[in-house]
Amino acid sequence: MKFSILTIFPNIFQSYFSESIVKRAQEKKLLKLEMVDIRKFSKNKHHKVDDRPYGGGAGMVMTAQPLYDCIKSVKKKNKGPVIYLTPHGKTLTHTVAIKLSKLSECIVLCGRYEGIDQRIRDLLIDEEISIGKYVLTGGELPAMVLVDAITRLLPGVLGDENSAEEDSFTKKLHGKKEYPHYTKPAVFKGLKVPDVLMSGHHKKIEEWRMSKLE
Ligand SMILES: C[S@@+](CC[C@H](N)C(=O)[O-])C[C@H]1O[C@@H](n2cnc3c(N)ncnc32)[C@H](O)[C@@H]1O
Repeated sequence: MKFSILTIFPNIFQSYFSESIVKRAQEKKLLKLEMVDIRKFSKNKHHKVDDRPYGGGAGMVMTAQPLYDCIKSVKKKNKGPVIYLTPHGKTLTHTVAIKLSKLSECIVLCGRYEGIDQRIRDLLIDEEISIGKYVLTGGELPAMVLVDAITRLLPGVLGDENSAEEDSFTKKLHGKKEYPHYTKPAVFKGLKVPDVLMSGHHKKIEEWRMSKLE
């Protein structure tokens, strides 16, 4: 799956995307990530990408021109939907992540300041996604959350094919939150691992785990 991430802070992504599962998914060619600097598309001589809001009020708004030219340019190489990350969007859930993981490409727009000029939303945005009912300073963290949640659902990304199917919210766990996990040592600070998990009795272990779903 290919993500084109449009941002005015492309360097923010380097560290997270070059570690662990997201890194390995790129190495296995299951995931392609490109960060596109919106500022490079600004026709302003100082590469400005924001201006004061019509009607007054606090803060700045991302101007239409750089966003329009940037999205139009990226759309030539990426045929997927344009997703704007915004607190106004549909909340990202496991179901939404599964649906998006079926795409082969998508374009993800990260806002800053008070958000983007409404006309870009009207003209070029296909879908709006929120990562929760709170406000962050920019769309870069939401973009990383989105990429991470989708990447672990792509076939072949996780070592054990089944492991994403046994996590919280999956069908296998009836949409519920997963059971508790324990590992060595068998006793820690006086707290013992439940006997059933040490019993080797697979059916009973499965029953115990299902009884602990929330
Ligand atoms: C400071 S926020 C703008 C908030 C906007 N003025 C409002 O009140 O809804 C700047 C940018 O951060 C991103 N952002 C902030 N919170 C988010 C959330 N919960 N989900 C997705 N994106 C978010 C969006 O891209 C947004 O354009």
